[in-house]
Amino acid sequence: MKNLFSYEGKRCLFAGCFSGMGEAAAQIVESLGGTVVAADIRKPTSFGYEAFHEIDLRDGSAIEQLVAQVAGAGPIDRLFYCAGLPGTKPTVDVMLVNFVGLKHTVECAVPRMPRSGAAVSISSSAGMGYLGNMAAVMPLVTAPGWAEGKKWVEENAEGMEAYSFSKMCTIVYTLQRAASLTAATGIRLNCTSPGPTDTPMMPAFVEQAGKKFMDAYPKPIGRNSTSEEQGWPLAFLNSDAASYVSGENLYTDGGGAAGMMTGALTMDVSLIGQD
Ligand SMILES: NC(=O)c1ccc[n+]([C@@H]2O[C@H](COP(=O)([O-])OP(=O)(O)OC[C@H]3O[C@@H](n4cnc5c(N)ncnc54)[C@H](O)[C@@H]3O)[C@@H](O)[C@H]2O)c1
Repeated sequence: MKNLFSYEGKRCLFAGCFSGMGEAAAQIVESLGGTVVAADIRKPTSFGYEAFHEIDLRDGSAIEQLVAQVAGAGPIDRLFYCAGLPGTKPTVDVMLVNFVGLKHTVECAVPRMPRSGAAVSISSSAGMGYLGNMAAVMPLVTAPGWAEGKKWVEENAEGMEAYSFSKMCTIVYTLQRAASLTAATGIRLNCTSPGPTDTPMMPAFVEQAGKKFMDAYPKPIGRNSTSEEQGWPLAFLNSDAASYVSGENLYTDGGGAAGMMTGALTMDVSLIGQD
């Protein structure tokens, strides 16, 4: 039987793979036979790649150049957008890297991808309130291009809780865009929503929300996940094994969001800010 999890013959662009989940996903894809094209603000060292492109994903024209350069050298069979910034960083930067850059990278890449192509990104269980915030996120989700998205962010940045807003936008974009994208091009679009994961980003969450809150964050498995445990679901969603999966937001949080959305678990927000 054919191994549909294999990445043999697939050229995969990774935007955000120096550390954490993106690094783990790139290592996994390499181990499954895929060709990695790496792009990050920092140069990765823990896996092999065809090429490394230094890029700041806060820059829309740099994203356009990246995609043109990568597509000029071969097919983009799969796109992994794994870059992100925590809420401790400036609001505009968080929104640009976490959402506007993600959408722009996908929209620039898909016209150059084959019908069998797929793209995946990383949202968060912090975005799970998206259904109650559709009206708030839609203007940015549907902003037509980089300039309009950036302008909207700059005009609305004041008072915005950027991290969870960017993650709600990522989920809504994935769910909403997949319908037209997959129908028109065959390309699948999915995202994951991890819970707390021990990556270089975790200290920023502890700094922002407090250790007590992060320790008590609902996680039925009883511990934070590892980067590798997040890398495998990303590799799955972009593999041929997921050939009928599109428009999916996969909670990779050990059951936390499922429990919270059904009232089986509660998040103790009174712990926010406590060490
Ligand atoms: N760690 C968690 O608990 C957790 C939970 C849910 C979701 N997430 C999300 O997972 C994704 C990956 O984060 P991580 O936890 O692996 O953290 P990480 O800090 O290890 O990874 C972030 C990556 O993004 C890159 N990056 C940051 N700014 C960039 C820029 N301007 N241009 C190019 N690359 C840039 C970094 O160099 C790094 O490779 C993020 O979107 C994050 O929000 C993390």
